[in-house]
Amino acid sequence: MKGVILAGGTGTRLQPITKITNKHLLPVGPYPMIYWPIKKLKEAGIQEILIITHEEYIDSFEKLLNDGGDLGVSLHYAIQPTASGISDGLAHAKDFVGKEKFVLILGDNIFEDSLRPFTQSFQKQRIGARVLVKKVDDPNRFGVAQLNEDDQSIISIIEKPKSFISNYIVTGIYMYGPEVFSYIDDLSPSDRGELEITDLNNIYIRKSILQFDQLPGWWVDAGTHESLFLANQLIHDELRERDYS
Ligand code: DAU
Repeated sequence: MKGVILAGGTGTRLQPITKITNKHLLPVGPYPMIYWPIKKLKEAGIQEILIITHEEYIDSFEKLLNDGGDLGVSLHYAIQPTASGISDGLAHAKDFVGKEKFVLILGDNIFEDSLRPFTQSFQKQRIGARVLVKKVDDPNRFGVAQLNEDDQSIISIIEKPKSFISNYIVTGIYMYGPEVFSYIDDLSPSDRGELEITDLNNIYIRKSILQFDQLPGWWVDAGTHESLFLANQLIHDELRERDYS
């Protein structure tokens, strides 16, 4: 399997610092944010990784990470010209992915669990995609999953709903096969002008080929000042337990 990390976007909720730098270069614990999804992919046995970001910051990423050798992975880079949505960013991974299955991580997702059990389940999955869901207290900031508790399926995903639907949200960790790129071609921009990841996942739901697992450990979308601070606290606590080794 291959790995794709999305590290573009505008970082609006982290202004003013994101006026001059990319969100995924900000510190989380002793490392820039982007190190964490790379480490999680590596730990799951995924070494071929594509980082997709805006042209303005590609040099900074390359200067920081080079070919990935220092982190024990092989890094590749692609440009998303405008922040036109997560599915639009993913479209730029088509050549890199080729015919393989892959894991997509949104670069601002910082989490505790190993991805290995989930990628192993996905390897065995015959068709479709797989997402990781998490029960949270503030679901309306995310893509909210309406779960059918009986047959363990997702009925639908609603992106940032105005009213309460469920406490289960879809994290920014997704597993797809190469068919995903033809589904992206079928998407239209949402009201906010983006190709949404939620619309893409809803295509899999309509075809009854979206599976999911629950992420048991802590998980943070570090896209706001408050959640970035929380991600730092959680990482520092975790590292302190391991004596920063
Ligand atoms: O973190 C999980 C959530 O991520 C999901 O529950 C939502 O369904 C999903 O839409 C997304 O919501 P966010 O509001 O957090 O998306 P955001 O615009 O902050 O972008 C998430 C990441 O994707 C971030 O690391 C930047 C990257 N990105 C985003 C856009 C819009 C890109 O690389 N290119 C883009 O065009």
